[in-house]
Amino acid sequence: MPDQPSRLRATAKTPSLGEARRGAEDAKARTRQSPSEQGSPATSFPVDDVRRRFPALERAGRFLFFDNAAGAQIPATVLEAVTDHLLARNVQRGGPYRHSREVDAIIGRARESVAAFVNARSADEIAFGLNATSFIRAISLAVGQTLESRPEIIVSDLDHEANVATWLALERVGARIVWWRARVGDDGARLHAADLEPLLTERTRLVACTMASNATGSLVDVADVARRAHEVGAEAFLDAVHYAPHGSIDVRALDCDYLVCSGYKVFAPHMGFAWCRREAINHLPIFREDFIPDVTPDKLEAGTYAYESVAGMAAAVAYLEDLGRDFLAHPGADTRGRSSDPNYAGADANVGPARDHVGPDPRVGAAASRAETVRLAMHTIAEYERALSKRLLDEVASIPGVTVHGVTDRDHLHERVPTLCFSVAGHRASTVAAGLASRDVGVRSGHMYSPRLMARLGLLPAGAVRASLVHYNTAAEIAQFGAALREVVDTPDES
Ligand SMILES: Cc1ncc(COP(=O)(O)O)c(C=O)c1O
Repeated sequence: MPDQPSRLRATAKTPSLGEARRGAEDAKARTRQSPSEQGSPATSFPVDDVRRRFPALERAGRFLFFDNAAGAQIPATVLEAVTDHLLARNVQRGGPYRHSREVDAIIGRARESVAAFVNARSADEIAFGLNATSFIRAISLAVGQTLESRPEIIVSDLDHEANVATWLALERVGARIVWWRARVGDDGARLHAADLEPLLTERTRLVACTMASNATGSLVDVADVARRAHEVGAEAFLDAVHYAPHGSIDVRALDCDYLVCSGYKVFAPHMGFAWCRREAINHLPIFREDFIPDVTPDKLEAGTYAYESVAGMAAAVAYLEDLGRDFLAHPGADTRGRSSDPNYAGADANVGPARDHVGPDPRVGAAASRAETVRLAMHTIAEYERALSKRLLDEVASIPGVTVHGVTDRDHLHERVPTLCFSVAGHRASTVAAGLASRDVGVRSGHMYSPRLMARLGLLPAGAVRASLVHYNTAAEIAQFGAALREVVDTPDES
């Protein structure tokens, strides 16, 4: 079987980022400004080239995809990998014939790709499945059978309910739930790892928390969470779903025990994956048929999942690697410089401390490994997205009646992703979202599946409005969003 057939085919049809960049340079010489140049927050981020790789963006016309936290668009190469899989080998794995062996090989390579994405020690620590929630459920059910002298599970009131309700269900089997409460202040609601101190004891089995709030976009210092959990002999379970499209994940640096994620938030089709520390998962009594090996990844992959989505997930990582290689080939631009990126060691003091979500600067050293290449892509994306966050905040700051629930301090943009949660005085959240929808802006309103957080922020029952951006969004789109929001704000809410 040829190596990564879908990707090779895709390359023939779809320009690589480097090719797209060269084409764009020629086009720029011929035309004047591209949309993103009209006030781009970080002009050296190749957002026009990036956008060319996402067919849905081209098809969308004026429509703004500002609901990416509910699912992002996919590059053409991902679509081609899915199509290729369905056309060439839509069969069950594990058979002796060529097509089935190809499926096995594709799953194996996808594990390696996702292992690079999270910097796992080994590809067999990656399991594929339906979505993040079903992994949380499977793992929590097994944890519930191993409580013994550690009956306490710490959950937060900032998390998506998928990482709360699943653990609460363990009360039926004797678990005691300990609440880690967010601090509510000017920067919305934030989880502080230091607040775990009085909660963690020798009775704690596990701390479950998110890497970033899917409602407000604020980050959690999950490396500190894992360190504190381990100090008392407990485990750390991380929900990476909201964080994953926005920054680098390094499970070794985080030193966590479990991490779940959804492919459809990271430019892949609907599917989920889990990384589990081998020693941790292999000790858990996860449901499986007797003939399934009791080791990772097999024990976490009950039944059949969507292999075409797994092929798409591998292509999504390949896309990120492609970005990383392009950034390596074009070093030195302002937006990629060490001094302006707080994720890099020795960053400017005024942008805050380095985050622990990420490792050292991947450009240090010789040939970049796959994990380093992905990490570089995610570092660069994170930096561009901080500029988007600033643009978004500046845009809505000039609109009367808009209140942002989250980090707004421009010196602390490294503590958030470009997920903007806001309310408009005198307008219901659903009216604002509907008004924006009728003006070609796709956003979401309600409790964002984090009703406990919304309650803490005093926003129930209506909830808030959420605009969630990723690296293919632009400053020009933010200006269009701002204009649409101004019109909505100026229209009385008669609902
Ligand atoms: C932070 C977070 N956790 C968990 C989930 C649930 O993910 P899935 O749909 O893959 O089960 C979501 C979905 O939006 C989310 O944003």
